[in-house]
Amino acid sequence: MAEWLHLADLSELVRRKKKRVVVAGEQIALFLVDGRVYALHDVCVHKQRSLSKGVVLGGAVVCLGHQWRFDPATGQAHDQPLCQPTYDVRVDGDRVYVNPVRRGRVGAAG
Ligand code: FES
Repeated sequence: MAEWLHLADLSELVRRKKKRVVVAGEQIALFLVDGRVYALHDVCVHKQRSLSKGVVLGGAVVCLGHQWRFDPATGQAHDQPLCQPTYDVRVDGDRVYVNPVRRGRVGAAG
């Protein structure tokens, strides 16, 4: 069920590139990557570090924990079997909306 929540403004993401939000117990990391906003679960599938402390590099989200690189659109870790859950994002003007229902598998095969 889609429940779009206004969790950030585009202007703050343009300034800071990322933002951590907790909504209904769900920890969400927002990133601005190449002009698009993505939302990933903030708790890294590797060793539970906070993904929002990471950086955007070469179109990927890099976790500062152990430098795993995640595709911001799919959550798939580069060269790793695990996948970071993601959320649907919608941008309307300056307002960034997120559906806080996780999509994607958590830590697939491997
Ligand atoms: S905790 Fe994120 S890469 Fe290890």
